[in-house]
Amino acid sequence: MQQAPLLTLTPTGGRNASPSIRATAFVFEDPRSRLLRRELEQLAPSEASVVIIGETGTGKELVARYVHEQSKRVGPFIAVNCGALTETLVEAELFGYEKGAFTGAIQSQLGWFESANGGTLFLDEIGDLPLHLQVKLLRVLQEREVVRLGSRRSIPVNVRVIAATNVDLDAAVAAGRFREDLFFRLNVAPVHLPALRERPGDILPLANHFLGTYSQRLERAKLKLSPAAERQLLQYVFPGNIRELENIVHYAVLVARGDAIAPEDLRLTAPRLDRSGASEDATLEEQVRALTARHSGTASLFERVTDSLVLSVFEANDRNQVRTAAVLGVSRNTLRTHLARLGLIDSRRAAAPKASVAGTAVATNS
Ligand SMILES: Nc1ncnc2c1ncn2[C@@H]1O[C@H](COP(=O)(O)OP(=O)(O)OP(=O)(O)O)[C@@H](O)[C@H]1O
Ligand SMILES: [Mg+2]
Repeated sequence: MQQAPLLTLTPTGGRNASPSIRATAFVFEDPRSRLLRRELEQLAPSEASVVIIGETGTGKELVARYVHEQSKRVGPFIAVNCGALTETLVEAELFGYEKGAFTGAIQSQLGWFESANGGTLFLDEIGDLPLHLQVKLLRVLQEREVVRLGSRRSIPVNVRVIAATNVDLDAAVAAGRFREDLFFRLNVAPVHLPALRERPGDILPLANHFLGTYSQRLERAKLKLSPAAERQLLQYVFPGNIRELENIVHYAVLVARGDAIAPEDLRLTAPRLDRSGASEDATLEEQVRALTARHSGTASLFERVTDSLVLSVFEANDRNQVRTAAVLGVSRNTLRTHLARLGLIDSRRAAAPKASVAGTAVATNS
């Protein structure tokens, strides 16, 4: 195996750990987030598997870490992205292997399950796990033991699994892409993370939290948000959720002059909301429809709004079509037609071939 190490194992840090994640850096201010925090604290001490469902950037990994920290499990927290690796690699990394198990296995290697012993294994993008590995994962969860590749010996493991998904797993089960038995085994405690636009009370506390982090890191005196910048943030849809807010604040700290962030320092690429008319519980689609309806008769506005929305969600998802389509709630073909119209992909390729059974998100950047 000649890849760079996939994980950095620290007591609370996983491979994806953003430098801004610290044990104390949890913001739960909005009433919905406070409820969520209570729910997480209730779940934490149990051994139950948890599935965290949320759009991209809503804090799935951070919430998993919070559950781990509140659980007082003494082992490490290890975060793994099931969609980022090839099928063969995921299998070897999850379950470990013995020397000689395959070409290049020059020495035995612990898998993630064994590494996370006594702690928590966070399986991100669980929906991308190939079907035959879903069978193996189910076995490990049931038997609480792993068998390394190239071995017959069972090794007992005590690991709590927290899985995350930004796709609808029910639909994946219905479509035969996700095993129903694994779904029921994992989904003991589903946790739904609201999108940032559905918990506006978190926007400014999070912005100030990131402002503190980035002003310090970039060695700027502590910057403030100007009232006008605050208003703009409160009206923004955040298709990329908290991660997008973090990027916006990071950029603003880089470009701000003076001691306050001005509206022009904020890179807001998607449409803004008029919160006076929109219900806080409305989905993004409903909100965009409401925004468009207020300007009925101007088809070009509709186009501008959808174009800018598609574009920003696409960018926020690193141009990953599967994730973008999931966030927008449209089929991949619809998305591809739109992207082709925007000139972002070749129009001859707009009609995607039918997705194959598993792992479709692995090769989706184009
Ligand atoms: N409640 C919170 N308090 C403070 N920071 C947060 C909170 N939720 C998320 N963040 C920060 O927002 C960023 C995105 O969070 P995270 O990586 O957990 O999201 P995600 O849902 O796993 O994203 P993706 O779908 O892209 O994998 C991280 O830097 C994280 O530290
Ligand atoms: Mg994540």
